[in-house]
Amino acid sequence: MKHEIFEKNSIILLIGILLAVSIGGIVQIAPLFWIESTIEKVKGMRPYTPLEQAGRDIYVREGCYGCHSQMIRTLRDEVERYGHYSLAAESMYDHPFQWGSKRTGPDLARVGGKYSDQWHADHMINPRSVVPESIMPGYPWMAERKLDTEDIAARMKTLRTVGVPYTDDMIANVDKDLKAQIEPDSRAARDLLKRYPKARVAKFDGKPGSTPSELDAMIAYLQILGQMVDFATFDASGPNLR
Ligand code: HEC
Repeated sequence: MKHEIFEKNSIILLIGILLAVSIGGIVQIAPLFWIESTIEKVKGMRPYTPLEQAGRDIYVREGCYGCHSQMIRTLRDEVERYGHYSLAAESMYDHPFQWGSKRTGPDLARVGGKYSDQWHADHMINPRSVVPESIMPGYPWMAERKLDTEDIAARMKTLRTVGVPYTDDMIANVDKDLKAQIEPDSRAARDLLKRYPKARVAKFDGKPGSTPSELDAMIAYLQILGQMVDFATFDASGPNLR
């Protein structure tokens, strides 16, 4: 019997197993890198504004993903609670993605627009002030700290190298756009909206002034989650894909 050699020699058996498993793996995984439909493009998806992107970086820095997922599964209870199940395209510009793996708090994939900016500001500073039974920790320093804006352009350039379609125009205007997003009704805000449709422009943390705080960035990010794709018109069978 030819396979006796495998049965009597564990190293050869091990090599055989590795070979068989990697062939299987390559056949399954490799095509995903080339098949067009792995991530279907969906209307409305755009890269984050500099302020939203900065908020996302704070989300990662503070480890919010340890308690929150951003991935609504295709299960009835999830769709009824959170809204339309998450599409692959909705995290195509997230590097790394924030699907998370555990929910101590609720899923945040569609939290944008669910609450007012004021609610978020109060909730971030002290969750118990708006949800008395909350076990979420407060992040009061975000309201005090000015956003560190020095490396945001560099971060956006890095994202561009991994496929996020930031244009030269977007990168050249990072500083303007950061300020514009907390200056409602300004000309700069109109320019921002041309570059980033549907961006929310507001005094997120409720304070006057033209330098964004960390809280401004955090809320700008939370308010755009789930807002880019219009699910009133989205049809998974195709016509709304571009
Ligand atoms: C220790 C776990 C924990 C961590 C860490 C945590 N949260 Fe929460 N979060 C919760 C819980 C529990 C709730 C539900 C109660 C409440 O609304 O406060 C919640 C609720 C929320 C909500 C309201 C969601 C909704 O649909 O009502 C938002 C927004 C939120 N968290 C954002 C954040 C952000 C941003 C961070 C990181 C800066 C963070 N959370 C960190 C546990 C956590």
